[in-house]
Formats: sequence, structure tokens, C-alpha cells
Amino acid sequence: MLRVILLGPPGAGKGTQAQYIVQQFNIPQISTGDMLRQAISAESELGSMAKQYIDNGELVPDNVMVGLVNDRIAQADCDNGFLLDGFPRTLGQADALKAAGVDIDAVIEIAVPDDTIVQRLSGRRMHSASGRTYHVEFNPPQVADIDDATGEPLIQRDDDKAETVRNRLDVYAKQTAPLIEYYQQHLPTAYHRIVGTAEVETVKGQVHAVLGEMLH
Ligand code: AP5
Repeated sequence: MLRVILLGPPGAGKGTQAQYIVQQFNIPQISTGDMLRQAISAESELGSMAKQYIDNGELVPDNVMVGLVNDRIAQADCDNGFLLDGFPRTLGQADALKAAGVDIDAVIEIAVPDDTIVQRLSGRRMHSASGRTYHVEFNPPQVADIDDATGEPLIQRDDDKAETVRNRLDVYAKQTAPLIEYYQQHLPTAYHRIVGTAEVETVKGQVHAVLGEMLH
């Protein structure tokens, strides 16, 4: 059983590392950002509500997110664990997870300073159907602007505009960063901080080492 929370600011590399973790440890990725973007593409009621928040770099209300994640964790593919990517993002969401009786084996914080984040998000490209993420310079696809696995075109996310990124960083500092202290206090042995400014492969090795250790 491996139940993991990936914590870190926008652009820290959570989605990038999540791709490797799901392959290496065979657990499903629960990316709340991807779930919301899929709801937007499907033009569902949830999607049209969430879009207003996402486009402004604000968080979608806790009650919506908690319901979404509780339903997802209850599915059979989560019986042997899961990777939470982008949840919890507020103290309220963390309390709700605890109240739902969800135990967590590892919290991995990927720490990256703000100036690096702005550079990363401006060069990010994404395959919208899968959520696979690239960077034009740091993690390029084999063919520019084309997804390696499907051959489909890559897109740039609307919320990666400089102005929205600045607000996302403010929101992270005010609403999500308090979770660092929360988990350091509540789950001290499960908490691991990894410096996310190294190359993708280096960060991948460090994350793998931490999670591999958890299974022994
Ligand atoms: P979400 O999609 O979760 O966005 P985020 O947390 O802001 O994270 P990102 O996806 O931007 O970054 P990442 O850390 O995954 O970085 P990546 O690997 O892509 O959420 C979007 C929105 O949805 C939120 O703003 C909110 O409105 C809403 N939402 C979602 N969850 C919510 C919740 N729980 N509650 C309320 N609202 C919620 O990497 C970034 C770039 O850097 C890429 O180009 C990548 O190739 C590159 N890169 C990665 N690692 C490295 C490295 N080591 N060196 C160099 N480049 C690297």
C-alpha cells in the first residue's frame, strides 16, 4: 500500500514526477488540476464553475474538491494506494482528508523558488488528453509541439500567462504553503522535502529513493 501526497508550488514539477511515480509504483495519479481541465473540456456543470476560478489563478472551493477526491479515492483502482497531485491544497482540504479516514504514507514536498517557476511555466507545453507535460528547453518532446506517445499536438495552458502565474504563486503562499507545517507536525516521519531545482532525472531519482524506502 502506497498513499502519497505531492506538495509544491505551481510549476514545481509535481505533474512531471507523477508520470514517473505511477509507472514505477503502479498506483493511479489523482491530479485534481487534470480532473478539472477534463471537466472544462467536457463542458460539464463542474467545468464551467471551475473555469472561472482556474482562469484567475484562484482555488476551486473546498467542498467541491473534497467531494471530487473522496469519490475518486473510493474507486477500486485505489485499493493498493494512489498519488494525490494537487490535493490537498488548503488546510480545510487536509482536515477533510483526515476526517474521511484516509491514511497517508508519504508527503513529498518539491521545493522550487518563484523565479524558477515563472521560467518553467512560460515554457511548459501539455498534451491535454493525458495531462503529459513537457518544457521547450528543459524537458522537450522528441518532435517540437508534438506528444511523444500519441503524436497529437501539444498546447499551452491558459493559466500559464505571466499575470495568472503571479496570482497562483500568491494563492500558493497564502493557502497551500501552511500545509508544509501541517504535515511536518502531523506526519513527521512521512514528510520529505526534495529540492526541485535539479534536473528532471535527478529529482526523479530522489523521489524514487524516498518512496522505495517507504515500501521496505
Ligand atoms: P494544477 O493543474 O494542479 O496546477 P499547479 O499545482 O499550479 O501545478 P502545475 O500543473 O502548474 O505544476 P506542476 O508542479 O505539476 O509542474 P509541471 O510538472 O507541469 O491546478 C490548476 C488549477 O486548478 C489551480 O490553480 C486551481 O484553480 C485548480 N485546482 C486544482 N486542484 C485544486 C484543489 N485541490 N483545490 C482547489 N483548486 C484546485 O512542471 C512545470 C514545467 O517545468 C513543465 O514545463 C516541466 O517540463 C518543467 N519541469 C519540471 N521539472 C523540472 C526540472 N526538474 N527542471 C526543469 N524543468 C522542469
